[in-house]
Amino acid sequence: MGKNAHATGVKLSTSIKESLVWAKEQLQEVCERPQYEAELLLAYHLTQDRSYLITHERDTLGNLEDFQKLIQRRSRNEPYEYITGNVSFYDIHLKVEKGVLIPRPETEILVDVVAKIIEKEHITRIAEIGVGSGAISVVLARKFPNLHIIATDICDTPLRVAKKNRDTFGLGRQIEFRKSHLIDEVPEALELVVSNPPYIAEDFMLESNVIDYEPKEALFGGIVGDELLNQIILDVKARDIKYLACEMGYDQKEPISAFVNELGVKSIKFYKDLAGFDRGFVIEFV
Ligand SMILES: C[S@@+](CC[C@H](N)C(=O)[O-])C[C@H]1O[C@@H](n2cnc3c(N)ncnc32)[C@H](O)[C@@H]1O
Repeated sequence: MGKNAHATGVKLSTSIKESLVWAKEQLQEVCERPQYEAELLLAYHLTQDRSYLITHERDTLGNLEDFQKLIQRRSRNEPYEYITGNVSFYDIHLKVEKGVLIPRPETEILVDVVAKIIEKEHITRIAEIGVGSGAISVVLARKFPNLHIIATDICDTPLRVAKKNRDTFGLGRQIEFRKSHLIDEVPEALELVVSNPPYIAEDFMLESNVIDYEPKEALFGGIVGDELLNQIILDVKARDIKYLACEMGYDQKEPISAFVNELGVKSIKFYKDLAGFDRGFVIEFV
């Protein structure tokens, strides 16, 4: 047990219950759910699940210094998903690491929107632009065993991590990866393209846990923010692809509507997230 621990208030020997009280205190300023995150990190430290903490609250905590280091990382705003290397998305757990965007709950809505189209139209060939951790592609492939997905990313780390996640779920037959700018390296016939691209404006003030830790390539879509989205719309329109489904920023409905109306498509439908913000769209081209 090091001197630092005394300085921050942990005793030489401490129980699981006392460690949690201390950790919650350390995280109070940093996160919205300090108790929950303290429990998550302690469970991770002990390689147990959270229920273990309740049934073993009087046990002495071993390796206190290591736990303290985890809490220090979180108190410097590092997202707990990067600390534990794990994130829950939809009905699965995925590996994540620095260099890969942490999939967000609102992206689960995009998955549901796309799943409805795939089901209705009996679609079997799609591409995902900007695969990241593989969240969208892995969930869709698990839902539709006959679906073949070509997933692209411009960066190497997401492609490597997405491959790991794909292989954990035994989806090698369904998902293939290409390093590509958008769908430039995907000449195959496709029925639908899905994407949660970077769509944030260059000068948007992001919180420290995002801007200091998550990859810039996954966040910023250009000076205004919707530049990459517009390019995706143009690229998909230029090919014989029927559907495009994308996530977007809450304030991008108007400019995207105007851009698409000018272009001329069969239809564009916007959807909202659970907080009621505009969050994405589906374009039917032909
Ligand atoms: C917002 S993240 C989405 C990741 C994942 N699909 C998800 O929803 O969690 C955007 C991803 O697009 C990738 N990306 C950025 N520019 C790209 C481009 N021009 N072509 C292909 N992928 C790109 C980034 O590297 C990043 O992994």
